[in-house]
Amino acid sequence: MAMYNDKVIDHFMNPHNVGEIEDASGIGTFGSPVCGDMMQMSIKVDDNGIITDAKFKTYGCGSAIASSSIATDMIIGKTCEEALKVTNDDVLRELGGLPSVKVHCSILSEQSIKAAIYDYAQKNGLEFEGLKDFDPNAEDHDESCELSDDEL
Ligand code: FES
Repeated sequence: MAMYNDKVIDHFMNPHNVGEIEDASGIGTFGSPVCGDMMQMSIKVDDNGIITDAKFKTYGCGSAIASSSIATDMIIGKTCEEALKVTNDDVLRELGGLPSVKVHCSILSEQSIKAAIYDYAQKNGLEFEGLKDFDPNAEDHDESCELSDDEL
């Protein structure tokens, strides 16, 4: 039986930054290769390269919602390069942890942020060091549904 701490439950019940930014600077989606759930992330970037807003929409589970709620809070106010350094481990630390079968849900948040910044970079002819290992087509390779339903 998975156990969730109060902070995770609070971000799940009252998630921050849900929705889609109209007129976004970058928008990306990512599908989890583990569970097949999708996350859409949109970001607004100002002229100084600072992320001034971030919003997410997901078909993912409560852990994905809590992870993205906190992850969007964490990247707002950062430059794209700084936001690219936010890993799912940072998200997990900030959330106070997730059950181990739910760690991939925090990776969905991390990767969708990268997807949104990737889109922003593409549209503006920019290159970011933090994107060099990012595969924008990784969501196409999601055949590996290894977890059974009761593990999710
Ligand atoms: Fe798919 Fe959490 S995002 S199980």
